[in-house]
Amino acid sequence: MHGFTDVDRQSAPDSWVGVLDRLAEEPFYQAYQQRVRELLRPAPGRRYVEVGAGTGASAAHLRDENSVSVATVDHARTMAAAMKARGLAQCVVADAHQLPFLADTFDGAWADRTLQHLADPHTAIKELIRVVRPGGRIVLADPDYDTQVLDIADQSLARRVLRFRADVLLRNGTLAHQHAGLLAVQGLVDVTVEPRTLLVRNPAAVDNVLGLRSWAATAAQRGALDPAEARAFEDQFDEVVDANRFTYAVTFFLTAATVT
Ligand SMILES: C[S@@+](CC[C@H](N)C(=O)[O-])C[C@H]1O[C@@H](n2cnc3c(N)ncnc32)[C@H](O)[C@@H]1O
Repeated sequence: MHGFTDVDRQSAPDSWVGVLDRLAEEPFYQAYQQRVRELLRPAPGRRYVEVGAGTGASAAHLRDENSVSVATVDHARTMAAAMKARGLAQCVVADAHQLPFLADTFDGAWADRTLQHLADPHTAIKELIRVVRPGGRIVLADPDYDTQVLDIADQSLARRVLRFRADVLLRNGTLAHQHAGLLAVQGLVDVTVEPRTLLVRNPAAVDNVLGLRSWAATAAQRGALDPAEARAFEDQFDEVVDANRFTYAVTFFLTAATVT
């Protein structure tokens, strides 16, 4: 499973704070997270909650840019400590599947790259809706790894490694294109979906961000790929890097709706 399913039990929990800090510096992430905050339609004095808030960078932006109150939830104590150190006082260690708030507490709730890691994202979506008042906003953001492409010579091998990333390394790596339907089924209205494609041409950025080169080796360790195929993947990865033609892309879906 991915490290974000249980940060506190990783061998170096604080390194996951570093991962989120590096991502927060990437222009793609900054831009889509700004859009996530806009989709919440924040108004001064209102209350919002981010579930699976990580280091709380986006939550702090929402609070500071809109004069709103922002609570944050994460089940990792490591992340809660990072948030408190950064001045997010309304931070709660809790599970997204069972939020410690009364119904209708907030004017909006969002989960950004959290649902992909959860054991039961459907229950978590119902919890997000439960804690938001009628008329309030829900925003979900996740990459959908069914949308991945990678330019290496052996496209069949690329697809197998990308499938492994989508189906094994993440619990719900291909759910994001279903978020709109899941919110509509719950009776939400004004449902919108905005795709944002992360296009990586600089391989240092993708390794920094996603560790893509290592996915084949991980697949081989787990018996999903022959070790020789994993080496071939790495060789072909290095070839496109050396030839200055590296291209990887994955689409994120930003889904927003209004609670009735
Ligand atoms: C990829 S990080 C995203 C963090 C943040 N939303 C951001 O945009 O930077 C996913 C976060 O979800 C948290 N998480 C994973 N499972 C959770 C659960 N069951 N309940 C609450 N938080 C959870 C992880 O600890 C991690 O901080």
